[in-house]
Amino acid sequence: MDHFRYEGGRLHAEAVALDTLAEEVGTPFYCYSTATLERHYEVFAAGFAGLPATVCFAVKANGNIGVIRTLARLGAGADVVSGGEFKRAVAGGVPAGRIVFSGVGKTAAEIASTLKAGVWQINVESEPELEAVAEVAGALGVRAPVAIRINPDVDANTHAKITTGKSENKFGIEWTRAHAVYARAAAMPQIRVVGIAVHIGSQLLDLAPFRNAYQRVRDLVALLRADGLAIERLDLGGGLGIPYGQAPSPSPADYAQVVKDTIADLGCHLILEPGRMIAGNAGILVTRVIYVKEGATRTFVIVDAGMNDLIRPALYDAHHDIVPVEEPAANAHLREMDVVGPICETGDTFAQQRLLPALKAGDLLAIRTAGAYGAVMASAYNARSLPPEILVKGDTFHVVRERIGVDDLLARESVPNWLGGP
Ligand code: LLP
Repeated sequence: MDHFRYEGGRLHAEAVALDTLAEEVGTPFYCYSTATLERHYEVFAAGFAGLPATVCFAVKANGNIGVIRTLARLGAGADVVSGGEFKRAVAGGVPAGRIVFSGVGKTAAEIASTLKAGVWQINVESEPELEAVAEVAGALGVRAPVAIRINPDVDANTHAKITTGKSENKFGIEWTRAHAVYARAAAMPQIRVVGIAVHIGSQLLDLAPFRNAYQRVRDLVALLRADGLAIERLDLGGGLGIPYGQAPSPSPADYAQVVKDTIADLGCHLILEPGRMIAGNAGILVTRVIYVKEGATRTFVIVDAGMNDLIRPALYDAHHDIVPVEEPAANAHLREMDVVGPICETGDTFAQQRLLPALKAGDLLAIRTAGAYGAVMASAYNARSLPPEILVKGDTFHVVRERIGVDDLLARESVPNWLGGP
């Protein structure tokens, strides 16, 4: 459930009318709903009530510090994959002691800065990385809290570009080797092995792969404990899919039940890393129609947002619902249209043959389910702006990130002296 609804014929984010907001901040812009973020967090966390569990929001889904702070105030930790995301999480009010650092390519500098800041856990994804963490921790004179991310070799049945738990993916250590790597890590004085991490992919609409992966984690815990290794924590990753307007998705309660069925009795502290499930439906991208072009075989609705603002349709053929900000009449005649951006690439298409009511230049559209992997993946391609982000709460709003335009970027460029520069 989200809080983007028609009231008095206009789409609102909570009690803020989006056409009014568009006048104030200009288009395109991202708009997030506080009530929706809070609700999604609460619903997810409720699934694990009574269990020792920490919900670490995956900052990669939405790194805006207004969004992070909204969740941090409810008790969320953070899952980060770079030194930059670590900084964002801290700026968003998440204590370092609730931040998990994941990712296959952590640099020595990132390992050092997060260890110094008191990161809760580093999820190690390879043996060379284990050695690097040990070396950096040794130099700093600390013991690094480490979980080993295993690759359970299960098929997540999701888009090939966002599946991570197959043996041919770059993530984690093959689960069959995990035992040996644990033994190595346990023998390193600079390393404190705290647990096992797993993350098999994103936008999973089927719970069976989670069940298979967690069962493998369970088997591994038994094996490691038999060797006398203490496994205090299990980091179960993110990945729970959400409805993008088409296929139904499993509920957080059903997902939590899978966790309870498979590993909740092991006496470990559980870490969950949801991103999309929290932020996806809490955000929209609002864009204005520039032209309606009647092509030879199609009608193109050319809008002022492009694939630089929201790349998911271009990159993953992702479906996003698109609705007019002005509520269409119940009996409005619908026609098939292609909603496209202004960028010079055919991939700059948000929807093809989509049924929409009559549209004209100047009309506003909302591209839904854009709160996760939207603004964070935006670029300035075609010398376009990075879109602003607005956080709404009730009848108030705040520009949580200003538009970053070409002038801001030009101010950071210069020409060398051999080309006449200063
Ligand atoms: N934990 C780890 C280690 C991850 O790699 C990810 C996502 C998550 C948690 C959060 O997963 P979520 O709950 O959001 O599914 N850009 C793609 C999604 C990439 C996901 C990468 N990893 C998209 O727009 O669909």
